[in-house]
Amino acid sequence: MEEMSKISGVPVDRLQRGHGVYLTQCGQCHELVKPESLKVADWRLVMPGMCWNAGLTRADEALLLEYVLAAKSVDDGKKKALPGGRAL
Ligand code: HEC
Repeated sequence: MEEMSKISGVPVDRLQRGHGVYLTQCGQCHELVKPESLKVADWRLVMPGMCWNAGLTRADEALLLEYVLAAKSVDDGKKKALPGGRAL
C-alpha cells in the first residue's frame, strides 16, 4: 500500500478503503478481476457498469477506481519502468 500510494499519489487510507470495496463487492457475481488483467481505458469503461451492478455509491466507485488504477500502475511499473515512474 505504501508503494502504491507513493507511485499513484493516492493517500494510503483511500487505497485501503478502495481495496475493501473491491474485496467485498467485486467477487459476488464472478471471480475478482485482477487490476492488471484489464487496460486502464477498459477499467474506466467497465467500472461504472460494475459499480451499478454492485449497487455502489459514486463515492465508493471513485475509491474503487483509484485503488484499481493504483494497483495497476504498481504492477505495470514492475514490468516496465516508464519515464517518471508512472504507468497511468
Ligand atoms: C464493483 C465491483 C466489480 C468489478 C470491479 C467488476 N465486477 Fe463484474 N460482471 C458481471 C457480469 C454478469 C459480467 C459479464 C457481462 C458483462 O460484461 O456485463 C461482469 C464482467 C466484469 C468485467 C469484464 C471482464 C472482462 O474480461 O472484460 C470486469 C472487469 C468486472 N466485471 C469487474 C456481474 C457483476 C455483479 C453482479 C451483480 C457484480 C456485483 C459485479 N459484476 C461487480 C464487479
